[in-house]
Amino acid sequence: MDVLVTGGAGFIGSALVRHLLDESDCRVVTVDKLTYAANPLTMAELSDHPRHVLEQVDIAEGGALAALFERHRPDRVIHLAAESHVDRSIDAPADFIRTNIEGTFRLLEAARTYWEGLAGPRREAFRLVHVSTDEVYGSLGSDGLFSETSPYAPNSPYAASKASADHLAAAWHATYGLPVIVTNCTNNYGPRQFPEKFIPLFILNGAAGLSLPLYGDGLNVRDWLYVDDHARALALVAARALPGSHYMIGGDAERTNEEVARAICAQLDEALPDSPHRPHARLIAPVADRPGHDRRYGADFSRLTADLGWRPTETFTSGLARTVRWYLDNPDWCAACGGGARQRRGLGAIR
Ligand SMILES: NC(=O)c1ccc[n+]([C@@H]2O[C@H](COP(=O)([O-])OP(=O)(O)OC[C@H]3O[C@@H](n4cnc5c(N)ncnc54)[C@H](O)[C@@H]3O)[C@@H](O)[C@H]2O)c1
Repeated sequence: MDVLVTGGAGFIGSALVRHLLDESDCRVVTVDKLTYAANPLTMAELSDHPRHVLEQVDIAEGGALAALFERHRPDRVIHLAAESHVDRSIDAPADFIRTNIEGTFRLLEAARTYWEGLAGPRREAFRLVHVSTDEVYGSLGSDGLFSETSPYAPNSPYAASKASADHLAAAWHATYGLPVIVTNCTNNYGPRQFPEKFIPLFILNGAAGLSLPLYGDGLNVRDWLYVDDHARALALVAARALPGSHYMIGGDAERTNEEVARAICAQLDEALPDSPHRPHARLIAPVADRPGHDRRYGADFSRLTADLGWRPTETFTSGLARTVRWYLDNPDWCAACGGGARQRRGLGAIR
């Protein structure tokens, strides 16, 4: 089986590519523009793998995509390429519209042309998995969870661009019969996440004795899923989900942002017993909240459990310990992220 993974050089995409290479004998084509979010060392780790190919392609370029489909003739497409940082979407939304909406449109069209040219069992078996976020549903109150039937109500430019892409993907199934599956997942964390995002930012800033900027009252709630659990869910969905199906994916690990910050600080205290910055929690510095900061996200993923038997395996405590250890043990990877890392940008939300 040949699997084409868009965004395979990014945080979740690279975890998925490694999972597919380790757990199956499929051939994997990473399709990635290699933006600031794609650390060169992430792809360098796979450069000698005999079943992996990297194609540096912008998904918003339709012509390049058509050639890719012809060259690699995939059985599966798993679409993760996106601009993914809420803060950046507030400062500069144009790239989010281009990649997340237009790029998804171009990908769907290239996939449709290719799929319509297939015949027999290969056409029957083809699947495209569109990977999205629970942020498309807006904000939850103090109880309840998002499910596959929740109404779309995105608030940030990032969430609105992903919601648009979800609708395009579902429409390409309803209108053209393209065998699309849509997944909406809660917040991921783990190794190789670009350190402008909450958890790696706090780990690296904390270890360096820099301030840990916590938005607002710190009581916004997110559900956290370890990235390898997400990769496993996506591989399963790509292998077994029916065309037109829709799945929530979650970690069953809701935490306030302050709880997450304090958990990171406790892990740093333990991992760095000689640090002059202990206790790291004193580095937490409340900063002004951003307008439109969704209060709470959480997902009911019981459909995925019932249909395909998936559930998360990593607890938040064990996953966070692994994550903190990974960032402390990989300074070269962190340094290769360049100047955009380790900053809170503008008024964006913690993601
Ligand atoms: N990180 C999360 O918590 C989370 C949760 C749910 C869903 N998602 C979704 O999962 C996907 C991956 O998220 P991530 O956190 O790994 O993001 P990421 O920013 O780490 O990776 C995105 C990748 O897409 C590539 N890319 C960007 N624009 C491109 C373009 N025009 N053409 C080709 N490649 C391009 C980047 O180079 C990068 O490698 C996204 O679609 C995101 O919306 C993320």
